[in-house]
Amino acid sequence: MLPVAVVISGRGSNMEAIARASLGGASRYRVVRVIADRDGAGGLARAAALAIPVSVVPVKQFADRHSFDAALAAEIDASGAQLVALAGFMRILSAEFVRRFEGRLLNIHPSLLPKYKGLDTHARALAAADAHHGASVHYVTDELDGGPVIMQGRLRIRPGDTADTVSARVHMLEHIIYPHVCSLIAAGRIECRAGSVFFDGAPLAAPLIEENDAAA
Ligand code: GRF
Repeated sequence: MLPVAVVISGRGSNMEAIARASLGGASRYRVVRVIADRDGAGGLARAAALAIPVSVVPVKQFADRHSFDAALAAEIDASGAQLVALAGFMRILSAEFVRRFEGRLLNIHPSLLPKYKGLDTHARALAAADAHHGASVHYVTDELDGGPVIMQGRLRIRPGDTADTVSARVHMLEHIIYPHVCSLIAAGRIECRAGSVFFDGAPLAAPLIEENDAAA
């Protein structure tokens, strides 16, 4: 079983999806720790309800980014995790932290990267009248939302969609693709070699795509 740490700042619905998918037994990973950067993160209660050990590394108690990142890294190492999934983690990690976990640090971003790095992705996709939108799971590099993409969940934007309706459908896709990627990594089918994604031993030319226009 591949030990996974999930790092959150907020409600933790992706964390819960990753954790629940591992409970069925088909996935070869298990969530060994959920770590939040603040006490109030809603995901902490969700994790506790699933009997997953939780820790808080309270960002406010650290003088600077370097000391926070060092404490977070120590917490991850103490958990024994070999894969780290950022899931709604709202801080930018230092290059040093990223290097330390290179090739085993994942993030999920609510857009079809490389489109719409950063914030307000749903509003930006709507404003651009895009036909499609979605979410991406990628390896983290020190370029914000810029690491190699492993898998995308893609949906069609519907007439009358708002940022809220699109966000709800994107979340449903996120809850499918993030556990899926963790499973593929745990099974040894996805890996990061020298900054590139390999799938079943061959370089991945384009992200794996999960289409789901049925998502309500
Ligand atoms: C998700 O939309 C994810 O793409 C983004 O933050 C959100 C986290 O949601 N990085 P949740 O906390 O997992 O519910």
